[in-house]
Amino acid sequence: METKVIKLKREDLKKTDFKEAGEILRNGGLVAFPTETVYGLGGNALDPTASMKIYAAKGRPSDNPLIVHISEVSDIEKLAVDIPKEAYRLAERFWPGPMTMILKKADIVPGETTGGLDTVAIRLPSDPIARMLIKTSGVFIAAPSANLSGRPSPTTAEHVIEDLSGRIDMIIDGGSCEIGLESSIIDLSGAEPLILRPGFITKEDFDMVVADAEYDRAVISEKPEKNIVAKAPGMKYRHYAPKGQITIVKGDSDRVVGLINEKLKEHLERGEEAAVMCADETADKYKCVHVYKLGSRKKDSEISANLFAVLRQLDEDGIGIIYSESFDDLRLSQAIMNRLRKAAGYNMINA
Ligand code: TXA
Ligand code: MG
Repeated sequence: METKVIKLKREDLKKTDFKEAGEILRNGGLVAFPTETVYGLGGNALDPTASMKIYAAKGRPSDNPLIVHISEVSDIEKLAVDIPKEAYRLAERFWPGPMTMILKKADIVPGETTGGLDTVAIRLPSDPIARMLIKTSGVFIAAPSANLSGRPSPTTAEHVIEDLSGRIDMIIDGGSCEIGLESSIIDLSGAEPLILRPGFITKEDFDMVVADAEYDRAVISEKPEKNIVAKAPGMKYRHYAPKGQITIVKGDSDRVVGLINEKLKEHLERGEEAAVMCADETADKYKCVHVYKLGSRKKDSEISANLFAVLRQLDEDGIGIIYSESFDDLRLSQAIMNRLRKAAGYNMINA
């Protein structure tokens, strides 16, 4: 299959820009598009065949449900039942934006889209390209991140091309994604709200709207714990991992730099190539030619926005040994460290 790539500018969008993409979606085809979090791989959420095509294109297990993207808050009433009042309060505060809600599903949502669950994940994105695509296509768009299963989520169209070119109908190139980490997921289908995936919207943000939202323990613990399985099916899979082995080094900044430099020296003596992932503030302190700067600790959204691109770059550069600083005291720490720990296979040492 030939994948058509079209480029759009967020500040200059016309309805006609979306004509072909809308036709593809209405005909059961697949279109990758940018959102404020990461690129999504879209198909008609109410068409079981389109959902099956999404799983096939990504190489994703079909028990891992998809997020349905909408363009109006009132759309939740078409897709869900028994909607609690918290859902409207959360929508009012955080939509359009990087939040996904889990609600009890309505009958029209096929089991293929929800991985056989009786709940449905719903998100109203803020990216103008995403919103206009959903609106003009006239379909609800099921969209997981537009990466091959197991790879870091794509934050540029180039990442999507790398993974999915030849496997889908179209890619809309809208440049880089602003946030760079997937949406925060909050489950409202149970007795208490539960945060299934940490993201740009944090527990502290949720606390301002709903009482007692807790993180699913499995997504914030430093080590995988026996008998604790993540509640979101997708969170239990190995994810984001580059081919090289990452070691996260935790502790006081000077000691982290000291320990990483010691390790780098040992590798150098053995003739091995190693790399460092770090904040801008400490980048100059490493005695290493392969330093990957994620951004400033004073602006943690830079770190979140760069993380997946750096993980992909490490693969491209073929680096086998990687040390990363830990990012523990930032607003987005839970979100960033959840991805970094998975990328490292939970390999962490204390400095
Ligand atoms: O930011 C995002 O959410 C991006 C953009 C494209 O919107 N999408 C995204 O989709 O990250 P995906 O498929 O990569 O991740 C969806 C996560 C998976 O971990 C999945 O298991 C979980 O949401 N999920 C979906 N439906 C669910 C449900 N009914 N119950 C529990 N978890 C669900
Ligand atoms: Mg994903």
